[in-house]
Amino acid sequence: MEVLSVASEVFPLIKTGGLADVAGALPAALKPHGVRMRTLMPGYPVVMQKLRKPQKVGGFNNLFGHPASILGVDHQGLDLLVLDAPELFDRDGGPYVDKRGLDYPDNFRRFAALSLAAAEIAAGLLPSWKPDLVHVHDWQAALTPVYMRFGPAHGMPVVLTIHNIAFQGQFGPEVFPQLALPPEAFSVNFVEYFGDVGFLKGGLQTANAITTVSPSYAQEILTAEFGMGFDGLLTARLSHLSGIVNGIDTDVWNPQTDPHIAANYGPTTLKKREINRKALSEHFGFDNAPGPIFCVVSRLTWQKGMDVLAEVIDDIVDNGGKLAVLGSGDASLESAFLTAAARHPGRVGMVTGYNEPLSHLMQAGADAILIPSRFEPCGLTQLYGLRYGCVPIVAHTGGLADTIIDANEAALAARVATGFQFSPVSAASLRQALRRAFAAYRQPKVWARLQAQGMKSDVSWDSSAHRYADLYSSLLAKG
Ligand code: ADP
Ligand code: GLC
Repeated sequence: MEVLSVASEVFPLIKTGGLADVAGALPAALKPHGVRMRTLMPGYPVVMQKLRKPQKVGGFNNLFGHPASILGVDHQGLDLLVLDAPELFDRDGGPYVDKRGLDYPDNFRRFAALSLAAAEIAAGLLPSWKPDLVHVHDWQAALTPVYMRFGPAHGMPVVLTIHNIAFQGQFGPEVFPQLALPPEAFSVNFVEYFGDVGFLKGGLQTANAITTVSPSYAQEILTAEFGMGFDGLLTARLSHLSGIVNGIDTDVWNPQTDPHIAANYGPTTLKKREINRKALSEHFGFDNAPGPIFCVVSRLTWQKGMDVLAEVIDDIVDNGGKLAVLGSGDASLESAFLTAAARHPGRVGMVTGYNEPLSHLMQAGADAILIPSRFEPCGLTQLYGLRYGCVPIVAHTGGLADTIIDANEAALAARVATGFQFSPVSAASLRQALRRAFAAYRQPKVWARLQAQGMKSDVSWDSSAHRYADLYSSLLAKG
């Protein structure tokens, strides 16, 4: 089966969050299931620099006003199709925002172009290859099924995966005439959303199947609290919605071979974590006092509950713990952590910015990872934590609820506990989870068992990949 995957970020070429990890890992995960997946992504400068011997496999004389090419290239086993459209993607700054952190004003055009290119590939643009099915990710690729619906690829099945319904790709009605869609597409059945143009809205209406990245989040987005305005639409499309939990790339995230950590280790050599703990402590300027090191590797945003975490920092320190934070995001949250680091030298440390190698050392050297998210479609850092023996302390929501087994009495007795869950997301309930974690940490046997049980959990793509493959097959069978 030939599948075109369409994503705005793909690890290891460009990453701002978990979407990249998932888009980067899916092709290899699906290969054993008879799926050949090619991935279409934008040719940002950092992507173009990394490509070795790309070949032009197709092109447009005029894609939203400018010529553009599709480049075919293999990158570390990924079969990529890169949309080389310099007017749209050759920019300083990130994939979505400029150097000052502001959205590019033409994001609607940039990602409409990605979607239109995907629809054209589905329609046979490339002389050498045509997919049987298209799998698009998030709002940036969500217009693909809308373009397909009004073009020659109408009828080819499309799967739309929601990684985060908070990001919807909504723009004023003035952009509609610039999208090269027929006038009837500006209706409630397609992209029109309360008078605006909604990219995700259009995709949710037209995709043959909608998935999200955990079963719990698939339930949650049917409610007003988590649906961010789409609960009604999703309820109407319930029979097309499912949740498939993410796996992780167990080659990239393997403490036994990880080149980014100070000492490799496995379930039987957990003592070597001490070397990583030392390296981490040096990095963050920690003193040698005993006590657990908690870490955070996260976007610093409201979604991630970082304001709640900031409220409990003093408690962590008062109880003899340390906190290492790696993240970037809201200026007020960055400064809350920087202020706490200044208040607690040797105990609280903060590295701002994005640092992939350090994110590995955090998992290998810290004792526990804190993830107090208000909502979390799946979450990947708790899965990395499980694999690295870094015990996850997580909010009971979305994929966090689905992947961590709380260390309650029953789970401890049954030897299945892998972490700590708390609810609601408030300072009081996080404090209580921390109290439980401190108590477990004081009993080395209990803690070691939590680590061992976590490291035994299956966080690979094995069980989820076949769910995607089955979904693709069922859609093709319907066709
Ligand atoms: P989200 O996609 O919502 O940000 P996920 O947990 O799914 O959350 O994925 C986040 C990914 O980004 C993980 O791979 C995590 O390790 C990584 N990450 C987040 N912040 C940083 C950072 N500051 N430096 C390095 N990696 C980071
Ligand atoms: C989004 C979500 C995160 C999920 C990731 C990959 O960024 O916020 O929970 O793990 O996508 O699916």
